[in-house]
Amino acid sequence: METLNLEELNQRYALPGLLRFAPGPGGLPTVHISDPHAQGMLVLQGAHVLQFQPRGQQPVLWASQHSFYAPGRPIRGGIPLCWPWFGAHPTDATKPGHGFARTSAWEVLGTSAGPTGTSIELGLLPTPATLALWPHPFSLRLRVLFGAQLEVELHVHNPGDQAFTFSAALHSYFAVSQVSAITITGLEESPYFDKVGGAPLRQEGPVQISAETDRVYQDTTAECHIEDPGLGRRICVAKQGSRSTVVWNPWAAKATRMEDFGDEEYRQMVCVETANAPPDQVTVPPGSAHCLQALIRVEPI
Ligand code: BG6
Repeated sequence: METLNLEELNQRYALPGLLRFAPGPGGLPTVHISDPHAQGMLVLQGAHVLQFQPRGQQPVLWASQHSFYAPGRPIRGGIPLCWPWFGAHPTDATKPGHGFARTSAWEVLGTSAGPTGTSIELGLLPTPATLALWPHPFSLRLRVLFGAQLEVELHVHNPGDQAFTFSAALHSYFAVSQVSAITITGLEESPYFDKVGGAPLRQEGPVQISAETDRVYQDTTAECHIEDPGLGRRICVAKQGSRSTVVWNPWAAKATRMEDFGDEEYRQMVCVETANAPPDQVTVPPGSAHCLQALIRVEPI
């Protein structure tokens, strides 16, 4: 993998007036996008979309004021990329939660501008460290288009000669006016595993949040809408290549226990994650690929 400094990245990939590389929070190398459609930020570590704000709208993504921004540490907010496992490792609790992609150094592969927005593509290949955690050859590409709509696409290619199985999430944190005043539609009647109560349940009506919520909705490909009367908007999360949707809010007690989460911040966020979480893992045969895509847009209500 080629590691370029910010000056080299700008020489090779900057798009004058639209996209440039500069230090971001904590000095982490970051790409800044500002075009006629939207403003955005993506931290190269983890290929982590941190900000997305379509022109004339409020910020769509949420990030904690208490997040760490440091090499090798996960960022609390934006869109962490969970791969090759979602949540705790299934058999080895000493391995990092949500896998290694969100804290790995990604390589920039290209940038481009088009009529619908400005995009960047990044790649990740195995290293001795990833092979120690997950013993498979792989090639990941993440393409993000910042436009009136945010498009995030994770391509997982298996260049090896044996199939591998992974779970994953585009772990999107959304900004809301007041979490207890929003409703999430699209998951009605879906079966889910309630990680708080440790039981399988079925969704009745829209999702409303009034306590710690940590649910893996299974076998659902539905578009979800976060209806937010306080901000007068609906955030729409459509997806492809995803059979699970995770809804998470830590609520008060868990927020207090988390080092990188303000005690009161749970009120202004909700995660609606485009995922393939167990039991909806993905198996990629040798020479094949899988694409996981989230399409995020905002509508007035
Ligand atoms: C959610 C999980 O996706 O992410 C939760 O369902 C977890 O169980 C949350 O607490 C945050 O995870 P992390 O590793 O970023 O603290």
